[in-house]
Amino acid sequence: MMTVRETVLGVAYLITAILFILGLKFLSSPRSARTGNILAMIGMVIAVVATCFDTGIITWTTIIIGAVIGVPIGFVSARLVKMTAMPQMVALFNGAGGGAAALVSAGEFLRGFQGGEPLSAGQLVPIVLSAVIGSVSFSGSLVAFAKLQELMTGRPITYAGQQIVNAIVLLAMVGLSVYMLLGNESVPVFAGIVGAALLLGVLGVLPIGGADMPVVISLLNSFTGSAAAFTGFVLHNNVLIIAGALVGASGFILTTLMCKAMNRNLANVLFGSFGGGGGAAGAAEETGGVEQEATVEDVAIQLAYARLVIVVPGYGLAVAQAQHAVQEMAELLEKKGVQMKYAIHPVAGRMPGHMNVLLAEANVPYELLFDMEDINPEFEKADVAVVIGANDVTNPAARNDASSPIYGMPILDVDKAHTVMVIKRSMSPGFAGIDNDLYYMDKTLMLFGDAKAFVSEILKELPARVAA
Ligand code: TAP
Repeated sequence: MMTVRETVLGVAYLITAILFILGLKFLSSPRSARTGNILAMIGMVIAVVATCFDTGIITWTTIIIGAVIGVPIGFVSARLVKMTAMPQMVALFNGAGGGAAALVSAGEFLRGFQGGEPLSAGQLVPIVLSAVIGSVSFSGSLVAFAKLQELMTGRPITYAGQQIVNAIVLLAMVGLSVYMLLGNESVPVFAGIVGAALLLGVLGVLPIGGADMPVVISLLNSFTGSAAAFTGFVLHNNVLIIAGALVGASGFILTTLMCKAMNRNLANVLFGSFGGGGGAAGAAEETGGVEQEATVEDVAIQLAYARLVIVVPGYGLAVAQAQHAVQEMAELLEKKGVQMKYAIHPVAGRMPGHMNVLLAEANVPYELLFDMEDINPEFEKADVAVVIGANDVTNPAARNDASSPIYGMPILDVDKAHTVMVIKRSMSPGFAGIDNDLYYMDKTLMLFGDAKAFVSEILKELPARVAA
């Protein structure tokens, strides 16, 4: 017979699980994402409150001290973080999740071990899995954070025999785990397993380039989810199993989608040491291609007399925080009768949905945002494609140059528009470290400057052109 308390807790956990699933469902569209977030937040509050009344709470003091320290840190840092620093913020939070899962497992191991009775395989397997996966995720996320925050070089750190060293650490970790599961449980063996896992997280992320970090963070996020699910088995907590499984699965799906959008496989991201700079020079550079610059006046006139203008936002738009200026420019042009559309590449920027979030912040109507597959056929009808701080996602080498590191990556067919305007500060490459042939095409006008400053200049110039 279940007690009333157990029934209430069971119902609370069930509601939580439903809210998490609904939250994820709603998060799949920008229109409903806010609702999804709120539902998941409510689910999390219910889960936390219910867990506080669940069995196994040993001392309230530790929980209260933890909350008093943790809540302001989380709240203030989430409010202050810039959008462009969001990936490293996610890395830190994710690392904390992995570390927490590992600590809970370590605690349960010590508790069981000190109990005197040997732990059963059914207890040990989830404890080891949660400790191992959580530790890899913790240390790997910290390295990812350090790379993105530029506390260390963002370039891939490689050395001779690296894969062999990593394989040895992996084997040691697996070997010790099997040894322990065969009935040789002891604190030093457990510490050895956790130590090897922590080392593996560091060694595994070192050879990955800083700009591949969003993919790595998404993968580590999936690890943290799996670690949490195993912790759920350790603690016999169903909602932790469900929430962990949801995070594990969605993180893995996101990782796969990101790799697909970059035409890379996971092995290439993890072991390819991509983004180290010195990539292939574009054909234009080899043939000595010359870019054409244009003035703000030329640009304003062309835009004001266009029928269809497609804006292609990228990482530089996020860095410059140019979204509001772009929205103002689009509104002015729409008043003049110009049709405006926005082309969203799935990996534009540095995190999934980066451009959608930025444009939503500036109240750009959702119906003007088009996914790559939908907008690509439109470029040949567009009078102007305005590329704002985007680079790799517009590079025709991905289509034409089999020797290019981004060959095969699906791109926005910007080069098919009648005129291409590129707003960026210099001829510097983007994340992939390669030249972009788009900049040397006859139809391309290079507009050098900070995205926000340049669009603001266009904005000043436009009223005269719009009235003309
Ligand atoms: P990038 O190719 O990185 O190019 C961004 C461009 O923005 C740079 O060429 C830079 O040129 C310009 N820029 C920087 N600051 C600027 C400013 N203040 N004003 C104007 N321009 C500025 O960006 P993208 O086209 O968005 O492509 C994203 C890249 O990141 C892809 O290669 C993708 O594979 C990779 N990536 C994305 C993700 C996700 S999930 N989004 C994850 C991992 C990797 P200047 O320095 O000359 O200004």
